[in-house]
Amino acid sequence: MGFHACDNMRVIHDGQEMDIRALWMEGQKVRCIDQKILPHQLEFIDASTVEDMAVFIEDMTVRGAPSIGAAGAYGMAMAQITGMDLNDAAIRLKKTRPTAFDLFFAVDRMLAAANEGQDLINAAEKYADEIVEKCRLIGEHGNAIIPDGARILTHCNAGALATIDFGTALAPIRAAFNAGKKIHVYADETRPRLQGAALTSWELVQEGIPHDIIPDNAAGHFMQRGEVDLCIVGADRISASGDFANKIGTYEKAVCAKENNVLFYTAAPVSTFDFSLTCGFDIPIEERSQDEVRYVGSELICPKEASARNPAFDMTPAKFLTGIITESGIFKPRELDRTKLQ
Ligand code: MRU
Repeated sequence: MGFHACDNMRVIHDGQEMDIRALWMEGQKVRCIDQKILPHQLEFIDASTVEDMAVFIEDMTVRGAPSIGAAGAYGMAMAQITGMDLNDAAIRLKKTRPTAFDLFFAVDRMLAAANEGQDLINAAEKYADEIVEKCRLIGEHGNAIIPDGARILTHCNAGALATIDFGTALAPIRAAFNAGKKIHVYADETRPRLQGAALTSWELVQEGIPHDIIPDNAAGHFMQRGEVDLCIVGADRISASGDFANKIGTYEKAVCAKENNVLFYTAAPVSTFDFSLTCGFDIPIEERSQDEVRYVGSELICPKEASARNPAFDMTPAKFLTGIITESGIFKPRELDRTKLQ
């Protein structure tokens, strides 16, 4: 098993306590937590080719922007191991999911490393280690804005599963809890893939962090009644203006937060910032299969003739943000500056 002394996702697997990451390299394979079958089963699944890695990103075995980035980096290492053309590998990996910028950032980083003659296994491991450290720092900075007794709303899963380790939105929550603050988390269930109910809650249960899962459409109700002090969400891509894409439903939460004077933060490492985009409307939004909406598990929940739309992300304009929590500190959108984030 890939134990990493600094990591904090502690799980019990086959009766053994382990500190693990969402994915890691083991020999010439990439071992991934199969996020499709959590919270009821914790199993690992191996990728040994670029195609394996690409399919794991597409089918959401590996998900969450920084974890998708790491999968892209490891996928490029697989290409070097198996002798696949690196440009073809980059094209295949970049076609998997369009919104999370980390994927494009990581694959381009590996192409640059290959051009410098670097070994891509080492380069991918270094990439993953760097992101873990950045998430740890996001936790440290974000802890400062969480008061003792805070009730915090989060959306989707932006924890260790989504980021290799620690999390983006969940890193400050972990840090605050570990610092002894009495906090309570509201985890939106996150229809249709239920990342909040299945994954965020699973992570919070592992660490004993008090929380309630709430239906997505209950967040406004709790904010209106003064039961939420702040919201922290992750991001899949942040434009130079601070407009950002995150899991579908984030925009509505941000609007409700502003209406109710609730602080609203996003948290992300540098790999999520796309400084080539000046406006959030230019962020490509993935639309997934309508059957993710029409079915819950294997059960059809609507007339069989009904069609559905399934945008996986939405765009929240920067004007709704109190701040952006990064590894370099907390910024107002107008203070965003590429050089401060390296
Ligand atoms: O479709 P997913 O599960 O990959 O979406 C994940 C999210 O939207 C997260 O909030 C996001 O990646 C940011 S946090 C790592």
